[in-house]
Amino acid sequence: MTILEGKNICKRYRRRDVSVDALIDVSFSLREGEVLGIVGESGSGKSTLLRQISGLETPDSGELLLAGKPLPAKRTKENYREIQMIFQDAVGSFHPRRKIADSIRETARNLVGPGIEPDWQTLCSLVQLTPELAERYPCDLSGGQCQRFAIARAMAVQPRILLCDEITSALDVSSQAQILKLLDSLHRQKNMSVIFVSHDVAVVRSICDRVMVMYRGRVVEEGTAEAVIGSPREEYTKKLISSVLEVRT
Ligand SMILES: Nc1ncnc2c1ncn2[C@@H]1O[C@H](COP(=O)(O)OP(=O)(O)OP(=O)(O)O)[C@@H](O)[C@H]1O
Ligand SMILES: [Mg+2]
Repeated sequence: MTILEGKNICKRYRRRDVSVDALIDVSFSLREGEVLGIVGESGSGKSTLLRQISGLETPDSGELLLAGKPLPAKRTKENYREIQMIFQDAVGSFHPRRKIADSIRETARNLVGPGIEPDWQTLCSLVQLTPELAERYPCDLSGGQCQRFAIARAMAVQPRILLCDEITSALDVSSQAQILKLLDSLHRQKNMSVIFVSHDVAVVRSICDRVMVMYRGRVVEEGTAEAVIGSPREEYTKKLISSVLEVRT
């Protein structure tokens, strides 16, 4: 079943006399329980697309459908609960002067209900951290621990879709591997659908079912991870993959 569908999404940013077409006629679909990867060079529109899906911004035109129903321009709390987003800067995604537990509690109370108290044991064991760590401030945790708590904050509201924007880019190699393993096991346990934006083609190949390639605001190629990364059809995808491999070697 298709859980999320985007139809002809356009987004233009205007700044004084300059305008940028960040998304041009972008259409996609995300199936239930699937991990969809998005790759593309810097500035190709990946984060812009996630911002339209999460409701942080509104597209200029086009339509987003969640389980077949159009998502309204003014999102409801339920819409926000169902689609959660995790960012590259895990530490910065928490209020600096609030304990992690208070930030997670606030999100749960805003989106689920005023009296809600997250089940800390379950939540922390889900992300493999001890509840005591949640009593710390973001600056007193490592980037990897903060990213786990960012995942915990999203999981506290039981989303249907998790949007991940370069969530491992700021982490060291071993934390990266741990976060990816965690994401993979969570999505399997919860049958959650995930959109995973990354520059790391090898990671995308290993954890994504399907991949979408973006170039200058458009989708230029889409297919199974194996097909798109293993034997790309489009010239741009070939160049993108070989340039990433060159950087790595
Ligand atoms: N708030 C904004 N105001 C003006 N232009 C913007 C804004 N946000 C993004 N853009 C422009 O839109 C285009 C797409 O940006 P976006 O951040 O979506 O790219 P990206 O694919 O996520 O890149 P990266 O890999 O570097 O994160 C770029 O040309 C960018 O400069
Ligand atoms: Mg981005």
